[in-house]
Amino acid sequence: MNYKIAVVAGDGIGPEVMEQNIAVLNAIGKKFNHTFEYTYVLGGGCAIDKYGEPLPQETIDVCKASDSVLLGAVGGWQWDTLPGDKRPERALLGLRGALGLYANLRPATLHDALKDACPLKPELVADGVDIMVVRELTGGMYFGEKGRKMTDMGEAAYDVEQYSVKEVERITRTAFEIARKRNKHVTNVDKQNVLESSRLWRSVVLEVAKDYPDVELDHLYVDNASMQLIMRPTTFDVIVTGNIFGDILSDEASQMTGSIGMLPSASLGEGTLGMYEPVHGSAPDIAGKDLANPIATILSGAMMLKYSFGLLDEAKCIEDAVTKVLDLGYRTGDIMSEGMKQVGCKEMGKLIIENL
Ligand code: IPM
Ligand code: MG
Repeated sequence: MNYKIAVVAGDGIGPEVMEQNIAVLNAIGKKFNHTFEYTYVLGGGCAIDKYGEPLPQETIDVCKASDSVLLGAVGGWQWDTLPGDKRPERALLGLRGALGLYANLRPATLHDALKDACPLKPELVADGVDIMVVRELTGGMYFGEKGRKMTDMGEAAYDVEQYSVKEVERITRTAFEIARKRNKHVTNVDKQNVLESSRLWRSVVLEVAKDYPDVELDHLYVDNASMQLIMRPTTFDVIVTGNIFGDILSDEASQMTGSIGMLPSASLGEGTLGMYEPVHGSAPDIAGKDLANPIATILSGAMMLKYSFGLLDEAKCIEDAVTKVLDLGYRTGDIMSEGMKQVGCKEMGKLIIENL
């Protein structure tokens, strides 16, 4: 098969981790007889430098016309003082919105080989961590009305947290469908003791759950969830939550995997077009030094094969190669521990290809 892929490598370490991702995908293409055709487009800080805006229309058009989108990372100190709608992050949020990618899957799995890199006590993770955070991605205060106004306390700013029944329903279904293919357990995270938007959220989750009697459902308030996550990480399966809570909890979950450099993500909508990116940022401090961990991006490539193209064997081949390389003792700096062999970004990519 022939697949058209839009590539938004972005800023900082984005281009270098993407280079390894593409090398791995090309090796998979050769092995399994697929052709991947890439169109490189600008998004984030590099687009601001070239076009004066983070998300040019051409980038949106190319992404829409592709079978899927790979994204590296956006942002950097150069653009930190720009106003909100001109910042590199707009590229990410704009693409999520324009492509209708409302479901963000962030799987946090702790590889056996990386148990030393996990900051939690060994006994807490002895049973293995395998959590799928399903984060709503195009609603909530990220996309709600925002602005400034004068109040009797002076100038104020607001970002409205709003969720519709439809928005909650579709993300909840995504979570239950995924849970069915895993350990059949969904934990809903909200703040319904305080927020009206969470009360609607909770009632919709309960309604949808009636269609999935085979899946166990429980609920946690977000503050409690953040505590339970580090107290009993091995008891979670699928977590479903809104945009802002999911942003925060997925960073917390990433630490279970040893490093945020290990965490891939998929952003999906109604069709098969998805956007695949590492959960980590652009890490400008280590950019261009061949120090970055490309594994999160390479695993995002595997998620693309699985979720957009239905190439399950090919995806598993990449995941197994990553496990093998870790078992062999190779580590980038972020997951390095005593007695292991430290390698750079390029070498890590090469090793994964050799072990496909
Ligand atoms: C993420 C990031 C983004 C978000 C930022 C960079 C806009 O933190 O993907 O988790 O908040 O969604
Ligand atoms: Mg985040």
